[in-house]
Amino acid sequence: MLNITDQQLIKKGSYINGRWLTSAEQIAITNPADGCIIASVANAGIVETEQAVVAAKAALAVWSAKSASERAGILRNWFNLIMQHQDDLAAILTQEQGKPLAEAKGEVAYGAAFIEWFAEEGKRVYGDTIPAPSADKRIIVIKQPVGVVASITPWNFPNAMIARKAAAALAAGCTFVVRPAIQTPLSALAMAELAERAGIPAGVFNVVVGSEAKAMGEVLTMHPDVAKFTFTGSTVVGKSLISQCAHGVKKVSMELGGNAPFIVFDDADIDAAVQGAMASKYRNAGQTCVCTNRIFVQNKVLAQFSEKFVAAVKELAIGNGLTAGVNIGPMISAEAVKNVDQLVQKSVGQGAKVVLGGKQDAAGANFYQPTVLTNVTNSMAIAGNEIFGPVSPIIAFSEEAEVIAMANDTEYGLAAYFYARDIGRIWRVAEGLEYGMVGINEGMISNSAAPFGGVKQSGNGREGSKYGLDDYLEIKYLCMGGLDK
Ligand code: SIN
Repeated sequence: MLNITDQQLIKKGSYINGRWLTSAEQIAITNPADGCIIASVANAGIVETEQAVVAAKAALAVWSAKSASERAGILRNWFNLIMQHQDDLAAILTQEQGKPLAEAKGEVAYGAAFIEWFAEEGKRVYGDTIPAPSADKRIIVIKQPVGVVASITPWNFPNAMIARKAAAALAAGCTFVVRPAIQTPLSALAMAELAERAGIPAGVFNVVVGSEAKAMGEVLTMHPDVAKFTFTGSTVVGKSLISQCAHGVKKVSMELGGNAPFIVFDDADIDAAVQGAMASKYRNAGQTCVCTNRIFVQNKVLAQFSEKFVAAVKELAIGNGLTAGVNIGPMISAEAVKNVDQLVQKSVGQGAKVVLGGKQDAAGANFYQPTVLTNVTNSMAIAGNEIFGPVSPIIAFSEEAEVIAMANDTEYGLAAYFYARDIGRIWRVAEGLEYGMVGINEGMISNSAAPFGGVKQSGNGREGSKYGLDDYLEIKYLCMGGLDK
């Protein structure tokens, strides 16, 4: 039993059409820090996924007909309840996902911020009038909700990735079905409990928890009642989901993999750069799509940056996320640890040097030591792949044009970061980086007011900001004729 204040937040099965499902077949949810079972949840499958889509379709007429301010009021209730239960939600999150409690609290607040933000932005879905080419006509543009939105969300942000999709969808007047990652369904179900308490009507927000990922994904991408599909996860899986959506020509928005460069120029404030690199690299033990993947440092400041950075990484405390003072929790699984270690060992074989860490940690099978590699080149395995773990490869460079080319030499284009002071350089580099988001002298770029999303194979669409709402709206053009006397 999870130790939290409001035990009603711990749910035992999917939430569909305002009802909680049970089943004899159970899925055990384990704490990645120690492998202990913390809860078990009823296993749903194709039938329940279809029921959720049908429920969302049935709820659409009533939800979309509400005024934006009515929807905003309900979403605001949801936001308030989430923030009131921030400690419990964070404790659930840490125990099913592993991240340190302070980070989990931060994630709950981050997710809730999208609900608050979109509740307000939903009131500003403006249309247009356009001068018509002839006097007897008027052209009017209105925006309408796309319809039922289906989604699949990842284990690395079990709360916030649902919140930022659902908030925009519901604010726009859409209804929503989510299949959360099977490792971390408890946060999703706790959010559903609070959605119900907030007054979100039955069928508007549905959570389907099940182990049949492929079959459930097929329903969510191919059911005729689904109008739009949104996914956060790997590029490989994203591509196959996009191809499934192509059958029904469904709208998609995809937040996929990344390979973020973090560039330190010789005019940078080195202490600020170290701080930014720590924040963007080691959050969630390096398991975020926007995590720094390659650190490029200009030759003149290479020794200075490396020394300060290694000293900062040495300070990280690894352990169970519930323990005070821990800032690196477990990775999601022993397999994830193995994958990261293979990348590290391969790169060492290619000439990289381990200056810190470089192996599984004594804390347990799912822990990997915060690691720093030097002597890395952009062609090594560690630079070419999304690491998704607490490993920092440092790559030296000499020229601005050279580093922009190296930074862009990847199929990914999600987030990039650089530290510099020269204003001309700042504009040249910001414009030259082929990424959807660029942190300039800043390592933490995610927030509800900003458009989160990538280019190239990192996906399409934006989450957060006024642009995030567009992804859940259809434009309809009305042509009014016969207006001559
Ligand atoms: C992600 O890793 O997918 C999301 C990270 C963020 O929202 O900052």
